[in-house]
Amino acid sequence: MKDLFSPRQRRDLIDRGFNRRDLARLAAFLAAGSSLSFYNEATLAQGLSAGPPLPEDAVRINANENPMGPCPEAVEAIRKLVPQGGRYLYQETFAFRDAMAAAEGVPLDHVAPFAGSSDPLHRVVLAFCGPEKSFVVADPGYEAGGKAAEFIGARTIKVPLRRDWSHDVRSMAAADPNAGVIYVCNPNNPTGSVTPREEIEYLVANKPRGTIILLDEAYIHLAKTAEPGTPMVVAGKDVIILRTFSKLYGMAGLRAGAAIGRPDLLEKIRGYAAGALPATGMVGAIASLKARGLIETRRRLIAEIRGETVGWLSKKGFDVIPSEANMIMIDTRRPGRAVQQAMLREKVAIGRTWPALPNHVRVSIGTPEEMATFRAAFGRVMNV
Ligand SMILES: Cc1ncc(COP(=O)(O)O)c(C=O)c1O
Repeated sequence: MKDLFSPRQRRDLIDRGFNRRDLARLAAFLAAGSSLSFYNEATLAQGLSAGPPLPEDAVRINANENPMGPCPEAVEAIRKLVPQGGRYLYQETFAFRDAMAAAEGVPLDHVAPFAGSSDPLHRVVLAFCGPEKSFVVADPGYEAGGKAAEFIGARTIKVPLRRDWSHDVRSMAAADPNAGVIYVCNPNNPTGSVTPREEIEYLVANKPRGTIILLDEAYIHLAKTAEPGTPMVVAGKDVIILRTFSKLYGMAGLRAGAAIGRPDLLEKIRGYAAGALPATGMVGAIASLKARGLIETRRRLIAEIRGETVGWLSKKGFDVIPSEANMIMIDTRRPGRAVQQAMLREKVAIGRTWPALPNHVRVSIGTPEEMATFRAAFGRVMNV
């Protein structure tokens, strides 16, 4: 088999602590298609409904999806493109990169398009972590990066969120002088809590030399107070930002996303790409970026439904972690997994629990009708 790694890549892998056997395994994995999903919300939603499939009329508020779906402009752009689908249409990928760069105010070569953000998230871990380069993550936090780290034998260091549910950037910066990646999800999944920009800037300024700050902004458009990290990228810092069209833009099944970072960092995650990206996702994303007022309107709508749900829950005596995203963590004061199972019997699929908060369940924000069904079912399950 042709050697998949250049001499430089091989040296870099050995520096990160990989041995010969690891290299062979990694090469096989990369050759098999590096967009393999280790773990994402979809995998989890399927895991939960393992056994009899969810009934058609079940309410699905388990994967932080957006029931509004793509905006009308995106639907129209996709509809127009479909008849040309016999072509590879790779120019749509470049057009998406250009639209994203313009929207974010970054140079063209600072944007790498992907089919969603799970792929670049995994690649960043593969590219910068290793047996001697740890992955640092908040607890509770989004688990995908830790799964990728486990796959390549990198240690995951979990740093508890602070009492205000923001990232503890001081402890994260000091967690491991040899950290490969420090992952900050802003707003955080599962808490929906925001970490202020000054805190993230502190982390970037005080991280170990050579460590990459992976800033996952999957939910940034939903948050009123979260500030994007793009100025840090423009300033040339060791920061890679992940963006997705799966959340506010309602395109989880259509797949579009991007990594934004310095070209030399993007180069390290771009290798082994499989080629053309789904043009439907690309044109849908371009149309979404151009749709006027879309972010504000959807952010407000989701905040209203979230507020209504939280209001009802607090009236019923349940504490909810303050969230700025399309999910809430509810303290059920009993093992969350049992509540999740009981809700499933009511045909309402809610999200999972986290070991750090075993009595909390994560509930995604659905439509007003879906949340009414949720309230009725939750009331029955919890006897309130
Ligand atoms: C924090 C976070 N990052 C990344 C993703 C990946 O989503 P996608 O691959 O659909 O962009 C998710 C999905 O829920 C997420 O919650």
